[in-house]
Amino acid sequence: MTPSFSKDPYPVGLPRLDNAGWRAEYEKVYTPNYGTRRLAFVRGEGSWVWDAGGKRYLDFLTGISVCSLGHCHPRITRAIQEQAATLVHCSNLYYIPVQVELARLLVSHSFADRVFFGNSGAEANEAAIKIARRWMRENRGPGRHGIITLEESFHGRTLATLTATGQKKVQVNFDPLLEGFKYARFDDLDSVRAMADEHTGAVMVEPILGEGGIRPLSRAFVEGIRRLCDERGMLLIFDEVQTGLGRTGTLWGYEYYGVTPDIMTIAKSLGGGLAMGAMLCTDAVGQAFAPGSHGSTMGGNALTSAAAHAYVSELIEGNWPARAAETGQYLTQRLARAIEPSRLVREIRGRGLMIGVELTEGAPDVLLACEEAGLLVNVTASQTVRLLPPLNTTREEVDQAVDILSAAILKQEV
Ligand SMILES: Cc1ncc(COP(=O)(O)O)c(C=O)c1O
Repeated sequence: MTPSFSKDPYPVGLPRLDNAGWRAEYEKVYTPNYGTRRLAFVRGEGSWVWDAGGKRYLDFLTGISVCSLGHCHPRITRAIQEQAATLVHCSNLYYIPVQVELARLLVSHSFADRVFFGNSGAEANEAAIKIARRWMRENRGPGRHGIITLEESFHGRTLATLTATGQKKVQVNFDPLLEGFKYARFDDLDSVRAMADEHTGAVMVEPILGEGGIRPLSRAFVEGIRRLCDERGMLLIFDEVQTGLGRTGTLWGYEYYGVTPDIMTIAKSLGGGLAMGAMLCTDAVGQAFAPGSHGSTMGGNALTSAAAHAYVSELIEGNWPARAAETGQYLTQRLARAIEPSRLVREIRGRGLMIGVELTEGAPDVLLACEEAGLLVNVTASQTVRLLPPLNTTREEVDQAVDILSAAILKQEV
């Protein structure tokens, strides 16, 4: 049956296949690194997306926190359309005015003085690792290239960033890994202190472990690693690829702690849905890059910078981080009440609209039941249902999501 859409879902002209049809085509041509999925999406608007069969879903995952102001936000769409018709790309061999404006916007609203743009979170972390190594080399001498990260952390899929990632499963058969990384226990200051030696140059953490199960670091730990870095002359790197840009109810995840890093990485929603990542740092650290020491052909090109400028401007002018904090509180309270009777629920945790519901078992089945009922969420760290809704989702949408999710969880008990 041909699905009906109010808007053509294939503006560029594609075959009219259903979900299973797209899966069959995909499996013939794509490397099998993502595993099997059931749905193909063809259209989005606000908090909603439509699959290839024409079914509508409430999107409480937003492409893993990428479409953070909902799908096809009018201000971002307009910026992309206008810039696409003006200048898409000319490379970093030239100045790109909209990129400079975006950098100005980011530094004027953060601890940072300097920005480097890449195309993904992994690339932002590569830049952070590289600049930290160079800074240590130039300011502390050779041999201090080591970086301490946390067990269960996630920093990306390139060789350096999968080495930084404290999860064996992403490292399997990619050895030899990069030299110099150590993994401290989660939220355990003594563990970091014990590992920091004469070779250690930096400590790199996510304020809330995202792929590691939505696990927030404590204030005492974050204050402690800042102090330790200062005492030992090490750099502190916050990977805010998932926590940054309003997701946790403040513009930056670090604001909750009252602690600033020397280097911060961001990506995900930064490009308003287009591929973009950035490394932000203090002026002192930024001086470690010299002409030729790092670069990217596409990083911060005119099109992505225009989309990002529209997105970040809307985030700030609309006060969306603070509004997301209120919506997050509403969601968490409603959800806690609705699933309180379930013996499957171990904990609801998170900050702002980065929320995890840890179950004792059955999370993959809960995800399937949610999909059936028209709600998109996902599962991290095997039993944590992760919610990353649009920061501008409405209370009515939150009510609908809570009804679907709680019913899916309660259904597992029978
Ligand atoms: C905290 C964190 N860092 C880095 C990355 C890697 O980002 P990307 O997939 O854009 O390379 C992710 C992706 O999920 C992430 O959550």
